[in-house]
Amino acid sequence: MKKMIKNGTIVTAADTYRADILIENEKVKIIGDEIRDDEAEMIDAEGCYVFPGGIDPHTHMEMPFGGTVTKDDFETGTIAAAHGGTTTIIDFCLTEKGKPLKSSIQKWHQKSKDKAVIDFAYHLQISEINEDVLKEIPLVIEEEGVTSFKVFMAYKNVLQADDETLFRTLITAKKHDALVMVHAENGDVIDYLTKKALEEGNTEPIYHALTRPPEVEGEATGRAAKLTALADSQLYVVHVTCKEAVEQIAEARKKGLRVWGETCPQYLVLDQSYMEKPDFEGGKYVWSPPLRDKSNQEILWNALKRGELQTIGSDHCAFDFYGQKELGKGDFTKIPNGGPFVEDRFSVLFSEGVKKSRISLNEFVNMVSTQAAKLFGLFPQKGTLAPGSDADIVLFDPNIERTISQKTHHMNVDYSALEGMKVTGQPITVLSRGEYVVKDRQFVGSPGYGKFLKRARYGMQRIEKPESMLRN
Ligand code: URP
Ligand code: ZN
Ligand code: ZN
Ligand code: ZN
Repeated sequence: MKKMIKNGTIVTAADTYRADILIENEKVKIIGDEIRDDEAEMIDAEGCYVFPGGIDPHTHMEMPFGGTVTKDDFETGTIAAAHGGTTTIIDFCLTEKGKPLKSSIQKWHQKSKDKAVIDFAYHLQISEINEDVLKEIPLVIEEEGVTSFKVFMAYKNVLQADDETLFRTLITAKKHDALVMVHAENGDVIDYLTKKALEEGNTEPIYHALTRPPEVEGEATGRAAKLTALADSQLYVVHVTCKEAVEQIAEARKKGLRVWGETCPQYLVLDQSYMEKPDFEGGKYVWSPPLRDKSNQEILWNALKRGELQTIGSDHCAFDFYGQKELGKGDFTKIPNGGPFVEDRFSVLFSEGVKKSRISLNEFVNMVSTQAAKLFGLFPQKGTLAPGSDADIVLFDPNIERTISQKTHHMNVDYSALEGMKVTGQPITVLSRGEYVVKDRQFVGSPGYGKFLKRARYGMQRIEKPESMLRN
């Protein structure tokens, strides 16, 4: 069934203009003035922006962590994402030492099977480097289309990898045109500081922040950037929170290094004081890196504006307050790390960014969609509205005023970290490859509709056929 979007204002990372969009066979077929097609279903976008669907490059669906598992799976999590204007997620596939990388990817395929309502892809964790892993990386890139690899510099004795692993992953990524991602915090120093805090009887949620100060993030970010320079490779730093880390990325980029940075809505609008809420309520705000002093918010906005940071990920990692976060009552190190943000990423950035004149409409689209598509090998299939692109489209009413609340969100979690926050703007209708997922704010999609996306290598574009690769 063909569809035609009329009367809206199309916004891409580059342009803002009024035109019609004809959708056919999952793709944008024509963008033009006064297109006529009597067979097409009309969608009236009067008063709405017509955006390319959001791309969330950072989610953790049904992920085991801290003796429990994140509450949103690929079904509930992608339904929430779609309500929030996101039409593609890239989830982190965790690996196990000593096991083939492909077995972990199979495990993630099992998790996502028949569940996702929008398209999705995976990044792959590298937890060790040995001959087997080195042999498998090019196969994972070639056969699975997984072209980005994540190394954790923190979570000692759990997810953390050493510097040799990071360095050799960077070298391997350079060889095969892949992108290395890091969780940049100095896990060894954090391990020492947390043990010391517990010994001193400091068990409250706020000590999660006090034992992971901004210096440990800045140090790890700088170390990763320097190793990237040495390997002549490319790096993407996830969830950047503070001045100390921004400075390292900015310095690396000034030297011409291929170093990229992501921040998350939570660091733009919340601060460390939330972790001091009484009766363990601070536990709701425990994730890593932790919330920072409020002064960092303006630093992050400026870094986005200046292009020192380029993307917004949600780091969606949802745990219930009751029964999950509560595991850490009396010992902050046992609070599962993470928060629920996949549904609010897009709207928070629009409301706090565009509406408050911190960023332009086109910069918004770039941060929430286009830049991630380019970095992670999905552009121009995703991340823009152009003839031939997937018809992943958000009709967004920029004037609706609403209050974020657990009572109305779609995430499968018993609290909102943004409870009571007023935002302006809301996705009204969301299409994934030309089909309705959300229509007039109601979910109408189907689990299993979402496709796994094989991605192009770093710096490449995939035009039409997977075989045809072009340099960005
Ligand atoms: O606390 C967080 N961010 N949990 C998810 C895992 C990670 O570090 O991204
Ligand atoms: Zn149809
Ligand atoms: Zn992380
Ligand atoms: Zn994460």
